[in-house]
Amino acid sequence: MNIVIVGASGTVGSAVSELLAKDHQVIRVGHSRGDARVDMRDPASIKALFAQVGPFDALVVASGSVAFNGLTEMTDEQWQVGIQSKLMGQINLTRAAIPYLNDKGSITLISGILSEEPINWGVSASTVNGAIDHFVKAAACELPRGLRINAVSPTMLEESMDKYADFFPGFVPVPAAKVAQAYKRSVMGIQTGQVFRVNG
Ligand SMILES: NC(=O)c1ccc[n+]([C@@H]2O[C@H](COP(=O)([O-])OP(=O)(O)OC[C@H]3O[C@@H](n4cnc5c(N)ncnc54)[C@H](OP(=O)(O)O)[C@@H]3O)[C@@H](O)[C@H]2O)c1
Repeated sequence: MNIVIVGASGTVGSAVSELLAKDHQVIRVGHSRGDARVDMRDPASIKALFAQVGPFDALVVASGSVAFNGLTEMTDEQWQVGIQSKLMGQINLTRAAIPYLNDKGSITLISGILSEEPINWGVSASTVNGAIDHFVKAAACELPRGLRINAVSPTMLEESMDKYADFFPGFVPVPAAKVAQAYKRSVMGIQTGQVFRVNG
């Protein structure tokens, strides 16, 4: 299988790339490094990516930013970060990938536990993650040619505890390798419209 991995250099993406590269041809895509580059906030950049890569079997996304702040402190600009990057970035990657995906190919997006378990300062992440979970449910019903779409929704990663542990009190982290297995289940399996939750 030819698998395009957006965010391949990241904490989630490097574990997914390592696992899938054992049995497949992976094209590692990043913002500043990789086999190819994209800015997922920019639809023109996304279109240029797929024109460069050509036909492939699976799109895997392990990138997308959100801003963290209190509900009453979040600025318009901070709301736009999550909407333009993690939400519309993944939706636009999905839309642009469809013509390039081979029949019965798949798309795997990333959401996160905050859609189900809010934390302080996480209102944008909860909103965006919930939207991704609902997007895959609806998009799965309309995808042509046997294409499938799922989301992986992890809790905090062990590898990210330095950055996030203070924001996730009482959450049990999971290793990135376990999250990578959920991606593998989505890419190699038969399910569609699903949210694969990876909890500690
Ligand atoms: N880490 C966690 O604990 C955790 C838990 C649940 C959900 N998530 C979600 O998982 C996703 C990835 O998180 P992470 O911790 O793995 O992030 P990360 O380590 O910061 O990696 C981010 C990746 O995204 C790429 N990227 C950055 N800006 C981009 C842009 N504008 N367009 C395209 N690609 C871009 C980076 O590429 P370059 O290196 O080339 O710049 C890098 O490969 C996020 O949506 C996050 O919310 C993470």
